[in-house]
Amino acid sequence: MQLILAVETSCDDTSVAVVRHDGFVLSLCSAHQDLVHRPFGGIVPEIASRNHTEQLLPLIERALSEARVGWDSIDGLAVTSRPGLIGSLIVGLVTVKTLALAKNLPFVGVNHLEAHLLAPFLSDKDHSPPKTFDFPYLALAISGGHTHLYEVRALNDYWVLGQTVDDAAGEAFDKFAKMVGLGFPGGVQVDRLAQQGDPRAFEFPRPKSREENFDFSFSGLKTAAQRMVQQMDPLEVKNHLADLCASYQEAIVDSLLSKLKRAVEKVPKSGDSSPWSVVLTGGVSANSRLREAARLWAEDRGVHLVVPPPRFCTDNAAMVGYAGIQRLRRGEASQQDLAPSPRLYEGDFHYTSLSPRRR
Ligand code: KG4
Ligand code: ZN
Repeated sequence: MQLILAVETSCDDTSVAVVRHDGFVLSLCSAHQDLVHRPFGGIVPEIASRNHTEQLLPLIERALSEARVGWDSIDGLAVTSRPGLIGSLIVGLVTVKTLALAKNLPFVGVNHLEAHLLAPFLSDKDHSPPKTFDFPYLALAISGGHTHLYEVRALNDYWVLGQTVDDAAGEAFDKFAKMVGLGFPGGVQVDRLAQQGDPRAFEFPRPKSREENFDFSFSGLKTAAQRMVQQMDPLEVKNHLADLCASYQEAIVDSLLSKLKRAVEKVPKSGDSSPWSVVLTGGVSANSRLREAARLWAEDRGVHLVVPPPRFCTDNAAMVGYAGIQRLRRGEASQQDLAPSPRLYEGDFHYTSLSPRRR
């Protein structure tokens, strides 16, 4: 098992990659749907699945051609089978099952969150992970759908230390952007405007950041912002937009980093006494203020910080390919009766008493 072709269609990105067993990405071809969902101010599941059906087969052809390999070089297939939008997952899974039959190849359904956690092992012609990087590590997976803090002990040994009890961090960015009249998805626009603003201009709450756990909460922050914006007249909001963005973003960054810092201090690391390696992954890890604040803290505390390049952090098939090929090499191929699931499976993660499994 050397080369795998992987498909990701769990949300609104259609993505196909050809990945080698050691994590080297030969090709990664993605089609984003931001423009088609923008008029609705959020992802419309029906439109997302229809777009996947249109994009997927041409992307598979392109991924093979960019990797300069034919089907005879592909040893297996991987596809995100959970969690995600059910209609979107079905498109990827049915396509991969059909290819597995037609090409007589094994395939495996992959947990999308496991794939995010393994993204730091990916490499390509422009990027290699730090040579010393390996298990165990702490990982903050932050995107439009999830905000989870994990202890990654080894392959298939993932512990949920904490998670959001309401909105995801990306959702908090997107809802705020909508509130102040920026387009969808808003995180990147808030990030851009915040660079010209003062993060201390407005005061926003940091819910949960003083609690003795590793959980997050962003709905109170969103409500506080809503109240603040409603009390200002539209011109005032426009004139203070950069300061509002910077202050709101700072509250998210503080909330995320306070729990990450607590984990580095409180979670015992087995094996040796060296500091934790810490990984940021998911779309929100592209945020420039978060990256900068994390970098300064890591330098100060001697923490080994690894942030994969944005193409491996946002939803992409390369990470699915890497997670999939590890499973296929362990003999864990899926069967044709595999069903997509909007939720995780019982055994996907281990939970602690501080952060029990939530549905
Ligand atoms: O991982 P991702 O591409 O898709 C999933 O949601 O799984 O993450 C998308 C999220 C969106 O909420 C988007 O607004 C946010 O990541 N995002 C950002 C930035 N770039 C993307 N949030 C803050 N700053 C950014 N630069
Ligand atoms: Zn994701």
